[in-house]
Amino acid sequence: MTPTRAALPVASAFGVDIGGSGIKGAPVDLATGRLAKGRERIATPQPATPAAVAATVAELLGRFEVPEGTPVGVTFPAVVHHGVARSAANVDSSWIGTSIEDVVGSALGRPVHAVNDADAAGYAEVRYGAAAGTRGVVLVVTLGTGIGTALIADGRLVPSFELGHLEIDGVDAETRASSAAREREGLSWQEWAERLQRYFGVLEDLLSPDLFVVGGGVSKQADQFLPLLDLRAPIVPARLRNAAGIVGAAALAARAAGKAVTA
Ligand code: BGC
Repeated sequence: MTPTRAALPVASAFGVDIGGSGIKGAPVDLATGRLAKGRERIATPQPATPAAVAATVAELLGRFEVPEGTPVGVTFPAVVHHGVARSAANVDSSWIGTSIEDVVGSALGRPVHAVNDADAAGYAEVRYGAAAGTRGVVLVVTLGTGIGTALIADGRLVPSFELGHLEIDGVDAETRASSAAREREGLSWQEWAERLQRYFGVLEDLLSPDLFVVGGGVSKQADQFLPLLDLRAPIVPARLRNAAGIVGAAALAARAAGKAVTA
């Protein structure tokens, strides 16, 4: 790949993945997209208010030596518009309107770059994982408590595509097709796949992606449900598994800081 900026000697960044049940983080080697050290995890405080979450991120970072100037990225499971949380489908509603970058940045005493969790995972899959090298439109869909989506066109992330909340058959898609919906309703793989077929079929009709990548914890069991889907585009499991959020957050923070080694 062609460097878009002069590569700086700093080739690592720190990623933090803020989720509903855990906050995970690790330094990331930006050349390979691998974790440079084993990740640490701390349970998400409840209630997950901005101050409590920020303090937990600070505790987590405190477990590593993170040299000054290292880009730090955090994911957040909601709409993140220029660092500010704009929705709260599955997080404490006090986040709406809060600048994640300000709250977490002041707890850490260093600048922080905040991005949507699916955007981070999607960027990581395109840069280092299942969609590496794919030209055209890649749609990464994370199936978890909610449904997160990331749209990447020719390697460029188009942020904040909230396609998990498409209204399909009169309901918010994630309430029927998320992994949590499968567990909540005790659906068989076949029953869940029928809902996924409807969901991915609508996505395909709207966006005609060249590739679908499916992430989220359930992607470990992709062979149980992906073969049941019938779509025009190939659909493959994510490759970075539970590191995708950390890796994407770190890579996007480095890119924002102008330290990305490649585009
Ligand atoms: C949120 C998205 C998020 C997804 C996965 C959805 O409910 O609206 O912003 O990416 O869950 O966490």
